[in-house]
Amino acid sequence: MSDRKLLITGASGKLGQQVIKYLLNDFNIPANQLIATSRNAASLRELADKGVDVREADFSNPASLEAAFAGADNLLLISIDAIGQRSELHRNAVLAAQNVGIKHLTYTSMPAADTSPVVFAFEHEATEKAITDSQISNWTILRNNWYFENLAEFFASTLQTQAWLTAAKEGKTAQLSRLDLAYAAAASVAKALNGKQTLTLNGPESLTTEQMAAKINQALGLNIQVIHQSDEELKAQLESFGLPEGIVALVTTMDQHARGAFSDGSSQDFEVLTGRKPQDFSQWLEANKAMLSQIAQGA
Ligand SMILES: NC(=O)c1ccc[n+]([C@@H]2O[C@H](COP(=O)([O-])OP(=O)(O)OC[C@H]3O[C@@H](n4cnc5c(N)ncnc54)[C@H](OP(=O)(O)O)[C@@H]3O)[C@@H](O)[C@H]2O)c1
Repeated sequence: MSDRKLLITGASGKLGQQVIKYLLNDFNIPANQLIATSRNAASLRELADKGVDVREADFSNPASLEAAFAGADNLLLISIDAIGQRSELHRNAVLAAQNVGIKHLTYTSMPAADTSPVVFAFEHEATEKAITDSQISNWTILRNNWYFENLAEFFASTLQTQAWLTAAKEGKTAQLSRLDLAYAAAASVAKALNGKQTLTLNGPESLTTEQMAAKINQALGLNIQVIHQSDEELKAQLESFGLPEGIVALVTTMDQHARGAFSDGSSQDFEVLTGRKPQDFSQWLEANKAMLSQIAQGA
């Protein structure tokens, strides 16, 4: 085990918390080799109690970032949730990482960041470019496929109404769990591969909306019907629900992304990086059955 210091941004987030658990428990990184950052250090008190070096880092305050990153060797830059501000804020983080001499940087990107029609793809494309243009010698861009968890966190209405409106047609996506993506991010920051690589992290199977709905129905005893629509019909329908413009654009472009096969594929990068296979959708549904059933019942 090297004595490199590993810094994790977004350590308070759902992905970041899990990355740190894996680093401590599965990769046996001593707590005193970990640095965890948040805009609010108090949110990381539990980690501080374990001996992790907890620091404040706000990507919108570039002047503070070099001090926050100082002394780190490997840095995991977890994309932030502030859609619309990420090109600039992530660039601030990449520049600070470069200026403090980070030896290896990992970034959590998205599938086909440079060609995808998804409304926020340009932010990941800009961040990837900031990394490739930087002086950082070793980096790994993780093009994370969609989380299975989006079903519960963003598309709960599909479970509740049992109607899945989609313009994705037969487009397939190779989604995987947030836990598996956290494990891959932990592997990347711990292993710090030499050189520059972009890895595509897919789940073990690529499924159409119909195939996903059938698996959900089987696991949860539901009767979700997939309703195929054109882009225009889906947009009009979502607008009729009073959804904000940004959400309508997000949902419709995610379906265009699926239809264009931007999240399809059978890359083995996950297995190569981690040495294990990610959970498939049926296994994830089984593991999360109680939580999903509660959502379906509107609880
Ligand atoms: N592939 C997918 O399907 C999918 C789905 C959802 C999200 N994502 C992406 O994956 C990322 C991680 O997912 P998650 O579930 O862990 O999201 P999350 O729980 O919402 O965490 C977002 C993190 O962003 C940090 N953050 C926000 N603004 C920041 C700023 N100005 N400076 C520094 N940090 C800032 C927050 O840290 P503090 O508040 O502690 O500062 C928080 O830890 C998301 O942010 C998003 O980019 C991907």
